[in-house]
Amino acid sequence: MKDLSAMLALLALLPSLVWAQQYPDCQHGPLANNSVCNTGLSPRERAQGLINAMTVGEKLNLTHNNSPGVARLGLPSYNWWGEALHGVAAAPGVNFSDSGEWSYATSFPQPITMTAAFDNGLLYAIGDVIATEARAYNNANRSGLDYWTPDINPFRDPRWGRGQETPGEDTYVVKQYIDNYVTGLQGGHNPATYKVIATCKHFVAYNMEGWQGNNRYGYDAIVSTQDLAEYYMQPSQQCARDTKVASIMYSYNAINGIPACANPYNIDSILRGHWNWTADGNYITSDCTAIQNMFTDHHAFDSRQQTVGAALNAGVDVDCGFYNPTYLSSALSLGLIEESTLDQSLLRLYSGLVRAGYFDPPNTPWRHLTWKNVSTPKAEDLALKVAEEGIVLLKNNGVLPVTISEDKNLTVLLVGGWINATTQLQGNYAGPARTLVSPWMALQNVSNLETIVVQWYESPLIRAIDTQPDLILWIDSTNEAAAEGEDRNTIRWDNLQIDAVEMLATSGIPLIAVHMGEQVDDSAFLSNPNVSAVVWAGYPGMLGGQALVNVLTGKVAPAARLPLTQYPTDYVDLVPMTDMSFRPNSTTGNPGRTYKWYDNATVEFGYGLHYTNFSTAITSPSTSSFDIQSLVSACGTYAHADQCPFRPYSNTTSSLSVQVSNTGSTGSDFVALAFVSGNYGPAPYPIKSLVAYERLFGIGPGKSQTANLNITLGGLSRHDENGNQILYPGSYSILVDVPTQSTWNFTLTGTQYMMDEWPQA
Ligand SMILES: *[C@@H]1O[C@H](CO)[C@@H](O)[C@H](O)[C@H]1NC(C)=O
Ligand SMILES: *[C@@H]1O[C@H](CO)[C@@H](O)[C@H](O)[C@H]1NC(C)=O
Ligand SMILES: *[C@@H]1O[C@H](CO)[C@@H](O)[C@H](O)[C@H]1NC(C)=O
Ligand SMILES: *[C@@H]1O[C@H](CO)[C@@H](O)[C@H](O)[C@H]1NC(C)=O
Ligand SMILES: *[C@@H]1O[C@H](CO)[C@@H](O)[C@H](O)[C@H]1NC(C)=O
Ligand SMILES: *[C@@H]1O[C@H](CO)[C@@H](O)[C@H](O)[C@H]1NC(C)=O
Ligand SMILES: *[C@@H]1O[C@H](CO)[C@@H](O)[C@H](O)[C@H]1NC(C)=O
Ligand SMILES: *[C@@H]1O[C@H](CO)[C@@H](O)[C@H](O)[C@H]1NC(C)=O
Ligand SMILES: *[C@@H]1O[C@H](CO)[C@@H](O)[C@H](O)[C@H]1NC(C)=O
Ligand SMILES: *[C@@H]1O[C@H](CO)[C@@H](O)[C@H](O)[C@H]1NC(C)=O
Ligand SMILES: *[C@@H]1O[C@H](CO)[C@@H](O)[C@H](O)[C@H]1NC(C)=O
Ligand SMILES: *[C@@H]1O[C@H](CO)[C@@H](O)[C@H](O)[C@H]1NC(C)=O
Repeated sequence: MKDLSAMLALLALLPSLVWAQQYPDCQHGPLANNSVCNTGLSPRERAQGLINAMTVGEKLNLTHNNSPGVARLGLPSYNWWGEALHGVAAAPGVNFSDSGEWSYATSFPQPITMTAAFDNGLLYAIGDVIATEARAYNNANRSGLDYWTPDINPFRDPRWGRGQETPGEDTYVVKQYIDNYVTGLQGGHNPATYKVIATCKHFVAYNMEGWQGNNRYGYDAIVSTQDLAEYYMQPSQQCARDTKVASIMYSYNAINGIPACANPYNIDSILRGHWNWTADGNYITSDCTAIQNMFTDHHAFDSRQQTVGAALNAGVDVDCGFYNPTYLSSALSLGLIEESTLDQSLLRLYSGLVRAGYFDPPNTPWRHLTWKNVSTPKAEDLALKVAEEGIVLLKNNGVLPVTISEDKNLTVLLVGGWINATTQLQGNYAGPARTLVSPWMALQNVSNLETIVVQWYESPLIRAIDTQPDLILWIDSTNEAAAEGEDRNTIRWDNLQIDAVEMLATSGIPLIAVHMGEQVDDSAFLSNPNVSAVVWAGYPGMLGGQALVNVLTGKVAPAARLPLTQYPTDYVDLVPMTDMSFRPNSTTGNPGRTYKWYDNATVEFGYGLHYTNFSTAITSPSTSSFDIQSLVSACGTYAHADQCPFRPYSNTTSSLSVQVSNTGSTGSDFVALAFVSGNYGPAPYPIKSLVAYERLFGIGPGKSQTANLNITLGGLSRHDENGNQILYPGSYSILVDVPTQSTWNFTLTGTQYMMDEWPQA
């Protein structure tokens, strides 16, 4: 810099640049003497001090996601809307730069692929890395501390446009995902200071986008109390009651006639009442435009003022939308809301920010994180590992892992729409990644392997024969995309795709079909003897192509399992998306939903092959009869009876022990799955229900490991028609693995025990 005066001017600016961060200035600014800056007080007391200093006009200004703050008080503007489903992602409250520093973040696989790994430790580690990167972005004034993630609605119908965002169809898996991922994001279980504020969305019974004239903005989900308590509410219960998530998002839909954002039963009776979700900082946001939709789509209120009033009075604290800033003031003038209600909302919101350290001094946790902490080699290795652990092997006649000899190059013909996929590997709610490695790119780095690329529409059979490849690798996803706002009508491959694979397969050259993206019916490939192998790789994230190649070449042995059912093509003709029920019903023709109630899957939930064989053996407990009252009275320290462990051995300190032996010749991980089945509780009875899993790592050939399957009394319970959770006497079977390899039968005796009495509407 030649101009000395310019340099001096810049230096003069430096002190202010040093404090130039987005945090409120608790040292020098107008807030310095406000109790919000007094770290000796509770979050609620601190937030109360802030609210006490505000005028009613200022308060009204703070009830939507894009908050202007209060300049007079030194409260900065703040956007509550961040996204981080599988990495810090684009959102109104997240500011990526176009290039260089702050232009990307680690982009993990989608949750549907994460949970296929059945590895709880991995889920916690992902949440922790994402929160670290989010904090770094926050320190650079490029994001807030609130992230509206995860999506916890279980994947109820294979057509759903947002299924890829979810951990699958099973409530037990969803609950494990929440407990580990949210705890990672928030910086521990119910921490004093939140690392980031996570948001479980969407409460409740939301999983239809746009289907045959039904629209999510005005959809009324008709749900029985039994299905509500047993299925739709289970993830939220985990979030609110057990994992203690900081915040919750309310959905677009109505539940039995009442829109979610004005539903006092769900909010007061269930969430804040039954689950006691009342800790400092527990706030509710609407989904974006959901308050407005109560007026424009649900037609639930006569005026816009009544609409915003109903949402605030029901306890929705933030409007992601523009109805609150526009109409809340006149709702107050009309007497439709009280200022004290507004104060309660702001108290919840700001005590959350207090708990995230927003008003704390600069030397507090996570303020040191910078760009150097984003997308580190370690974080990217984790992204690769998650993808490797989440790839499911569905069929293998021995072609996998692909053998590559040093004597002769292996020629691989690449066909299909995703052979060079990059951003598609990320799926939705993705942030920009430092690099995106497609399958084609990863294959270029495999020595003694050459690729030939053919587009499927170039008459692949002719080209395949022309080029005499050693192997054909077809990589594609369904062309009928599922998207937010749009569900699919079919769950099948296009005929063109099936034709291409079948034509290629007739060449007699080994063919591997890699199924990416959404679930569709693979039966044509599974039943075709000329298709040598089928792999489901979902949405494997930034290094997804590398992970796939590592699995195909045997660098990594696959051990993932399907976290959802792969249904036959005709399933979608049998049950409309709008039928929210699960049990088979001969009147409506509903064949049942999820593996618990539907028994004709193309590929079953929990299925997945290995490059080796495993055998399992349950260590038999010495008794097979347990008295319900004795089990319950032994639970002392658990807040809720459903969390109480079921310990079947006479020493009563061990969970169910399963010996897993690798009987083949390749070292591999193994996911031990335990289901319960039996005719107990209210009929009809589920086929089986997952009650525990553990991923065991690196079991060598000829070696064994023990899985400790932590079954709880909740896992053995059923829900009655009123939604009550009850432990019933009866005959039970524990089934290990898919298909079942080992079973253990036992009985529960005595009288039924009410575990959780469900509040009636
Ligand atoms: C932080 O970023 C916002 C825009 O997102 C801007 O208005 C504000 O001035 C920035 N704060 C500081 C201290 O740089
Ligand atoms: C805070 O209070 C102290 C002592 O009363 C006073 O000296 C100081 O000016 C006040 N600071 C602000 C920003 O109001
Ligand atoms: C509300 O926020 C706007 C900026 O969005 C500002 O112009 C206005 O003065 C604020 N109102 C009050 C009462 O602070
Ligand atoms: C994003 O951050 C950059 C750098 O601080 C800033 O110049 C830009 O205004 C910000 N964009 C938004 C929309 O806040
Ligand atoms: C409800 O939650 C509050 C705040 O977290 C806690 O203080 C209280 O003990 C809880 N009550 C019950 C009955 O668990
Ligand atoms: C094998 O392929 C590599 C390029 O991947 C090439 O350099 C080499 O010459 C090939 N070897 C043979 C034996 O064809
Ligand atoms: C794959 O995509 C990359 C860029 O994304 C491109 O450089 C490369 O040529 C593509 N490969 C093929 C075979 O199309
Ligand atoms: C099971 O699914 C197959 C298609 O995969 C179908 O042909 C058959 O009719 C179904 N059976 C029953 C009992 O629904
Ligand atoms: C089957 O569906 C009909 C029509 O919706 C309903 O009235 C009936 O209660 C259902 N039966 C069972 C067993 O759920
Ligand atoms: C309890 O008994 C089971 C079955 O015999 C055994 O596997 C386990 O190691 C025992 N646990 C303890 C703590 O002794
Ligand atoms: C089972 O519970 C024990 C004790 O709480 C815990 O250490 C272990 O990690 C749990 N196992 C699984 C697979 O969750
Ligand atoms: C367990 O019970 C089921 C159902 O009653 C029965 O089919 C199975 O044979 C029993 N298994 C063993 C090992 O006793």
